[in-house]
Amino acid sequence: MSLNELRSECLNCKNCKLCETRTNVVFGTGNPDSKILFIGEGPGENEDLQGLPFVGRGGMLLDKMLSVVDLSREKNIYIANMVKCRPPKNRDPEESEVAACRPWLEKQIEIIDPKIIVCLGRVSAIRFIDPNFKVTKEHGQFIEKDGRLVMGTFHPAAILRNPNQKPAAMDDFFALQAKIEELCPETYAK
Ligand code: URA
Repeated sequence: MSLNELRSECLNCKNCKLCETRTNVVFGTGNPDSKILFIGEGPGENEDLQGLPFVGRGGMLLDKMLSVVDLSREKNIYIANMVKCRPPKNRDPEESEVAACRPWLEKQIEIIDPKIIVCLGRVSAIRFIDPNFKVTKEHGQFIEKDGRLVMGTFHPAAILRNPNQKPAAMDDFFALQAKIEELCPETYAK
């Protein structure tokens, strides 16, 4: 199955109650041949309206930080979320919603087959890396999982709330850049 076929199926998803309040399903965006997958939490208001991940203020910051290490959604990465539909009033997604949505993410991972996964923030890190993951303590560390390297870092919205975290987050992006050069240098091929 291609990513586009999966997207078409996902756009009709009614596996949880978030389908009742969404404007658009936010499936994901980027280069499907990329070896680098970023996983956020879930769509906010702007994402719900546009059907695209990370298009608000947090997304602008994310794009800026990515560009410092020569990464972009237009070129060499893919971006998705734990849940594909906006939780009302931007509340945290419920456990049952994350569970209902997980098969879509698992299929995305299977099709994209990334070498490196970056969890943006606690909501994805606790489900992908370790239920006790502490972003402030464990960010930037690469852990091997199912033959892929997974790293957790600060969520862009958290950096906007607490700009003191930006240098540490940027260090994680530099560590990512070094890992890409080691494992999948084709990411940077011109
Ligand atoms: N926050 C996320 O985690 N994902 C988005 O797509 C937007 C904001």
